[in-house]
Amino acid sequence: MSSFWSVWISVLSLVVIAGCFLLLRACSKNTTGVKEGESMGHSFDGIEELNNPLPKWWSYMFYITIVFGLIYLALFPGLGNYKGLLGWTSSNQSIGTEQGIKADSAAAIELAAKEGRYVQYDQEVKHADEKYGPIFAAYLATPLEELVKNPEALKVGGRLFLQNCAQCHGSDARGSKGFPNLTDSDWLYGGELATIKTTIMSGRHGMMPPKGGLPIDDSEIAGLAEYVVKLSGREHDETLAAQGQGSFMKGCFACHGMDAKGNKFMGAPNLTDDVWLYGGSRGVIEETIKHGRAGVMPAWKDVLGEEKVHVITAYVYSLSNK
Ligand code: HEC
Ligand code: HEC
Repeated sequence: MSSFWSVWISVLSLVVIAGCFLLLRACSKNTTGVKEGESMGHSFDGIEELNNPLPKWWSYMFYITIVFGLIYLALFPGLGNYKGLLGWTSSNQSIGTEQGIKADSAAAIELAAKEGRYVQYDQEVKHADEKYGPIFAAYLATPLEELVKNPEALKVGGRLFLQNCAQCHGSDARGSKGFPNLTDSDWLYGGELATIKTTIMSGRHGMMPPKGGLPIDDSEIAGLAEYVVKLSGREHDETLAAQGQGSFMKGCFACHGMDAKGNKFMGAPNLTDDVWLYGGSRGVIEETIKHGRAGVMPAWKDVLGEEKVHVITAYVYSLSNK
């Protein structure tokens, strides 16, 4: 923060507090010329205004609030660049210039770690690591086949899921448009323990290019959609679907398979099961074919670490394997 803004904030804060103090003082004095408890000479519908002083408890509370504010400002940062008597800080990022702020912060964090200076956040993380580290290490040492039978571990996995995965997959893990349901046994990439773990560790990029990247004319899309509807076993127009099947043979099968049952290596969905990632209405299917789709599942290896991913894997597996 530049020193102008630092002074500006400090002066403004102190002037406002001083103003509160003076206002309170002024209001506590009887300057009306009327004795306390006597009528001010105003009457509203027969209700008289008396010259009563501010209640004592109320004024004292106000004074205590002012003193508390001043002590707080002295101890903690708040007045511009002033760091506070306690040296408390919520982060170990340095206060740098706009341009230098990232590099400054990285350097400040490194320095703080080297000197063993822990700010509140670091302390909490360190404390949590010390407390829960051994528990997670023990979980990681347990094979997934065993871990899925440990109710305590599944509970921990469930909590981690809510914190990290629910925003996309839903708190009940049932997903929504574009975000797969993890509670059924219909998998894009595979539902074996090891596959689920790979998915979470490294992430996935589903890639369906517009029109499958094939020489397909816009006029063929309605037929393709009709054929996809037929594949999922629903009522359809036979002539249109037959046309669509011809177009499908131009190359859709390369990813979705000759039997259209999908391909787990590239996450191409099974088109015959009437379970939809993006939606099974003709309109949505046409949209998928015309514009393609590219669902992204982020990688969690570096965010959560393998220990936590291990526990979440057990939880996700348990959702469809009761
Ligand atoms: C930013 C949104 C987002 C978040 C957060 C997210 N996912 Fe995903 N996830 C996706 C998408 C999108 C897909 C489908 C990728 C595709 O279309 O190929 C997916 C796919 C998956 C799959 C594969 C499902 C299958 O059918 O094979 C699993 C398992 C999974 N996610 C688990 C998790 C877990 C566990 C977490 C939390 C650690 C998580 N996801 C967090 C978006 C997300
Ligand atoms: C290069 C491989 C590839 C080709 C070729 C391809 N697809 Fe796909 N398709 C995918 C993938 C991968 C997805 C899933 C996309 C995602 O996860 O975001 C997908 C998704 C779909 C979906 C959505 C399914 C759902 O559950 O919502 C439909 C429908 C579909 N493809 C039809 C077709 C048709 C028809 C063709 C031929 C014109 C075609 N695809 C060609 C890879 C392919």
